[in-house]
Amino acid sequence: MNGPVLNLRVAETDREEFRQAVLDGLSVTPRAIPAKFLYDERGSALFDEICELPEYYLTRTETAILKRHAADIGRRAGPGCALIEFGSGSSVKSRLLIEALPELALYAPIDISREHLDTTAARLRRDYPRLNVLPVCADFMKPVLPIESGGRRLGFFPGSTVGNLTPSEATVFLRHTRELLGDDGALVLGVDLKKDPQRLHDAYNDAAGVTAAFTLNLLRRLNRELHATFDLAAFAHEAFYDEAEGRIEIYFRSLKKQSVMVAGQRFDFAAGERVHTEYSYKYDTADLSALAASGGFRVAETWTDPERLFAVVYLESIA
Ligand code: AVJ
Repeated sequence: MNGPVLNLRVAETDREEFRQAVLDGLSVTPRAIPAKFLYDERGSALFDEICELPEYYLTRTETAILKRHAADIGRRAGPGCALIEFGSGSSVKSRLLIEALPELALYAPIDISREHLDTTAARLRRDYPRLNVLPVCADFMKPVLPIESGGRRLGFFPGSTVGNLTPSEATVFLRHTRELLGDDGALVLGVDLKKDPQRLHDAYNDAAGVTAAFTLNLLRRLNRELHATFDLAAFAHEAFYDEAEGRIEIYFRSLKKQSVMVAGQRFDFAAGERVHTEYSYKYDTADLSALAASGGFRVAETWTDPERLFAVVYLESIA
């Protein structure tokens, strides 16, 4: 039942990369740890819970847009495409495209979590026995992806994951993606839109505290994997919308002056000092056109919901 997995990662180097990134991130001012490290097994489960929260409108809104416009996407892409998904997670939304794309030749989900990929690929092969599924275990920010396919390449980057990237990182990602997808390639991109700041604030400060648990789970991971000594009760989740920058900023904040050991090194935290974990950039249509152009794409079509909370855009490579 288990087919091939293109494994571009080795567990040992993953751990070393994690250790080095964390030590580097805690040694600079201001301190920051890359957002991708939030997604260990528990972090991924917590993120799935976030997606169900009443305040977190993103997932259900995007899914509704994709349901309504999957056939439009299928018509634009045409028959015989290869669908390549970046950061596929559990591939729930991809099923909407898999079912709408005529004569789909290949589905290649790319994800850093090997466990996620294995279960996802097995389920997809079970549910679509005639679909060619090629899971790729890799960091989609790293450009080398030896995916072989005929037909038009359709990229899929849903969930406002692009919002985790700074504008210059997003441009780099789009340029790599433009290369991978080729001259007649296209990219279906899901982005969260600029809106009432209170609505944005609430989406990252849910009443049930799941988002706080998601942020603080990073400390738990550091304790487990890097022999760190974080007291989870002595740090707090902090998220707010910076309207001038058009982004949510997320941190964990030290509630007192304290020292913490991480991988054999000591780090001193001042009372109130914070460590950055995530950006979540919000876009408007002008931002989107500029972003697309910076990566070698143009916005061919934009689909949104009645409240204009979220957008799914169809980007075409500029030849
Ligand atoms: C997965 C990056 C899209 O920015 O909304 C949600 C991550 N962090 N709540 C987002 C997240 C806290 C999420 N993305």
